[in-house]
Amino acid sequence: MSLSKRPEPCILVIFGASGDLTQRKLIPALYSLMCDGLLPDEFAMIGFARKAKTNESFREEMRVACEEFARSKPINEAIWQKFARSLHYQQGDYGAAADYEVLCKRLEAIERAHGSGANRLFYLATPPEVYPIIIENVGSVLCTGAAGSDRHWSRIIIEKPFGHDLQSARELNAHVHRFFREEQVYRIDHYLGKETVQNIFVFRFANGIFEPIWDRRYVDNVQITVAESIGIGNRGSYYEKAGVIRDIVQNHLLQLLALTAMEPPAEFSADAVRNEKVKVLKALRVDTSRGDGTVRGQYGPGKIDGQLVPGYTQEEGVAPDSTTETYLAMKLFVDNWRWAGVPFYVRSGKRMAKRLTEIVIQFKMPPLLLFKETIARAIEPNLLVMNIQPHEGISLRFGAKVPGSGDNIQTVVMDFNYGSTFKTAAPEAYERLILDAMLGDSTLFTRSDEVEASWALITPVIERWEAGGGSFIELYRSGSWGPKEADDFLAADGRKWHVL
Ligand code: BG6
Repeated sequence: MSLSKRPEPCILVIFGASGDLTQRKLIPALYSLMCDGLLPDEFAMIGFARKAKTNESFREEMRVACEEFARSKPINEAIWQKFARSLHYQQGDYGAAADYEVLCKRLEAIERAHGSGANRLFYLATPPEVYPIIIENVGSVLCTGAAGSDRHWSRIIIEKPFGHDLQSARELNAHVHRFFREEQVYRIDHYLGKETVQNIFVFRFANGIFEPIWDRRYVDNVQITVAESIGIGNRGSYYEKAGVIRDIVQNHLLQLLALTAMEPPAEFSADAVRNEKVKVLKALRVDTSRGDGTVRGQYGPGKIDGQLVPGYTQEEGVAPDSTTETYLAMKLFVDNWRWAGVPFYVRSGKRMAKRLTEIVIQFKMPPLLLFKETIARAIEPNLLVMNIQPHEGISLRFGAKVPGSGDNIQTVVMDFNYGSTFKTAAPEAYERLILDAMLGDSTLFTRSDEVEASWALITPVIERWEAGGGSFIELYRSGSWGPKEADDFLAADGRKWHVL
């Protein structure tokens, strides 16, 4: 993984520059990087999209976006002026080769003016339908000449979703590889850019006391939750085709699982880390010993923060009889020597009571013969909770003797909290990821075999559902913790979800 190095001079080309992601995440991340002195002096960015805009109108819109979304606030006027000068815009049609020729000329002109050389980073922030045509044009028009020479680098960042099943992910990988070598490709899963997610490495492998008990001898089960209180907003037509399984589980959630379960890599290099994650993904199995190993749900109307919210089927762009799942719980096993027999329960849902992402390691109960029966009943299993967001931290739950003459035991919690310990706002995930791509470090990006391994696990689940088999869609109230059936799912194993 990279340290705080500064990248070489380069130019960033964002396709989809008039979209939400560019405004809310990408440009604010770039601005914050400039504030932290992490962008190269000779940096430039050009946005490409269908909408007509001038450089000036684009810069103005981006200023408003940074005022609202950048981590570094308020806007620093001097830095903004410098940053704004590096922003450019070009209207174009993703399918028109001539527009890429024009873009190429502009890149060369900007590169000359900024002295940024022909190092080029391309960012696909468009709807996935146009990825193939952009990839082809970038590869055949924009990565030639000086940009294609050995003296310069070209890299491409591809947003999620990367495919919609195993077949389409394989096709997209094959298409990408026609124009780019794998080491030029940066597939984004923004969860990997989160500080707390990177801390899973550090927590596990830079401490002596956790790794020895991180296995089936000591761990009873692992629970991973990605809960969101937001609904689907105006993304109805996308979400109808995705559901939570494609939107969160196939990528973010499986990444959290892979980091939790992986073996220590021999070194912190992109390949060593990703080799270990791929091994986990390949060893993963959905437990179908009871039903299809899933519980699916869809949110109905309810209240979030005291406000009435509509049910999923009343959302814009959603079919009134939609059977798309907005909640999913699954039971998985990692069939390897470390984890055989330890269930990994994962769940994710929209419109749940709170926004919360956490990984819970539940340890086996100690033999309780030492304690009287009544006391033993009060003993709860030890839990290690990694709070990914929003209350970033780690806590350990254990039993302690209540002071006094009795032998009462109470569960207590030892807490580490990022905010109060480090007293500094963590960089946004996109800041870290864009910087790493500029530096040529792909440790925090998903490799082609990794994305295919996760689809290989998920695709049969979707196919079972589509064939009419598997779990039913259970309705749950917005503002709850998902369908009751998800509780029954764990209760059948004699377990319960960690209370959020
Ligand atoms: C995106 C999903 O990848 O992640 C969204 O498409 C989801 O539906 C978002 O809301 C969650 O990201 P975060 O960083 O807010 O947890």
